[in-house]
Amino acid sequence: MANMLTVFASSLLLAIFCIRSSDALDINYYNQSCPNVESLVTVAVKKAIANDGTVPAALLRMHFHDCFIRWEQLIFLFWFDDVKGCDGSVLLNSTQQNSAEKDGPPNISLHAFYVIDRAKTAVESSCPGVVSCADILALAARDAVALSGGPNWKVPVGRKDGRISKASDTIQLPPPTANFSQLRLSFAQRGLSIADLVALSGGHTLGFAHCSSFQNRIHNFNQSADVDPSLSSSFAVGLRKICPAHNKVRSAGAGLDSTATIFDNAYFKLLLQGKSLFSSDQALLTNPRTKQLITQFASSQAKFNAEFVKSMVKMGSLKGGKEVRLDCRSVR
Ligand code: HEM
Ligand SMILES: *[C@@H]1O[C@H](CO)[C@@H](O)[C@H](O)[C@H]1NC(C)=O
Ligand SMILES: *[C@@H]1O[C@H](CO)[C@@H](O)[C@H](O)[C@H]1NC(C)=O
Ligand SMILES: *[C@@H]1O[C@H](CO)[C@@H](O)[C@H](O)[C@H]1NC(C)=O
Ligand SMILES: *[C@@H]1O[C@H](CO)[C@@H](O)[C@H](O)[C@H]1NC(C)=O
Ligand SMILES: *[C@@H]1O[C@H](CO)[C@@H](O)[C@H](O)[C@H]1NC(C)=O
Repeated sequence: MANMLTVFASSLLLAIFCIRSSDALDINYYNQSCPNVESLVTVAVKKAIANDGTVPAALLRMHFHDCFIRWEQLIFLFWFDDVKGCDGSVLLNSTQQNSAEKDGPPNISLHAFYVIDRAKTAVESSCPGVVSCADILALAARDAVALSGGPNWKVPVGRKDGRISKASDTIQLPPPTANFSQLRLSFAQRGLSIADLVALSGGHTLGFAHCSSFQNRIHNFNQSADVDPSLSSSFAVGLRKICPAHNKVRSAGAGLDSTATIFDNAYFKLLLQGKSLFSSDQALLTNPRTKQLITQFASSQAKFNAEFVKSMVKMGSLKGGKEVRLDCRSVR
């Protein structure tokens, strides 16, 4: 009897696995149905960057949020279809009945949604109703990295868009105060390893953070220290100038690394010198394996690039919804 059950359970698992792997992402997914999609997205991203240097960081972070906010959960052998992955949900506007991810607390600095809208408009006029918003965002994030001096790679596509976007789900994102075990758990829940955690944290080579995101490290750190002792003291002095204890300038903050518009490995070099912004960055030095990876990436841009690409493809394959939205901001 127990044997029968085991056989039944494993064939069910296998069946679910087969159904799921048959709709795997593929770099040639739009070859016939929308052969120009990549160049249309690239043109839209390039145009936007020419006017606004903050666009690449925004697109990269937007894709990360899209993929991380709803993750796939296996509960009693069933996947709940609407609770997972890169499904364009981060792009949805709030409605009268629903407050969307965009309006959740970690939205601070999410911006440049217009770039996805423009790319989508161009793609829709060339191949209507074919390309998902989630794919456009994944392609745009890749372009953002490549156009900032980072690696270029083929993005597996074929994602579908979801309909659910809830501000309350943004608590699923790891906070900048997270310690190593919290970060490891958050990544593991999405099938991502600690090697992925280090490589993807390298996304912090681009962009900007507001004071509130690293306030915990520079004022009232804990009962014995006002400033996080793991911060370089000269670096901390600079941050405290920009971000005083009762900071009134809401837009104040700092670049995530010293070359915040260039995709390079400076983030890892600075991290080793105590010059990272978030506790979550610093936390990567508290585990021997992740510390070793940081040292490797700090000494080799090529190694970082290669691992970043692998991990982006992995993160990007957390798949989502079931449809192709015509307007990335609304479901009909
Ligand atoms: C490991 C967990 C992570 C945490 C705790 C985290 C946290 C944060 C925080 C707090 C900010 C600043 C928000 C602000 O103050 O405006 C930020 C910015 C950013 N993050 Fe992360 N992040 C994580 C992982 C990632 C990943 C995986 C990527 C992409 C691969 C990424 C890319 C970015 C980028 C590009 C920015 C700058 C955004 C801009 O300038 O518009 N982050 N992150
Ligand atoms: C899709 O297009 C690319 C580039 O044009 C080509 O290299 C590839 O072989 C094509 N794949 C398929 C399955 O048609
Ligand atoms: C972030 O959320 C607030 C409300 O919680 C909203 O006013 C603001 O427009 C949102 N920002 C973006 C970029 O959507
Ligand atoms: C990490 O933070 C969690 C929640 O604050 C805490 O329970 C845990 O003990 C911390 N882990 C370590 C290793 O500090
Ligand atoms: C404050 O943080 C430092 C560095 O993490 C630690 O060594 C010290 O024990 C902490 N003090 C208290 C009172 O928690
Ligand atoms: C979404 O919100 C933006 C900014 O608030 C607005 O300009 C746009 O028209 C909205 N789009 C839809 C489809 O609701």
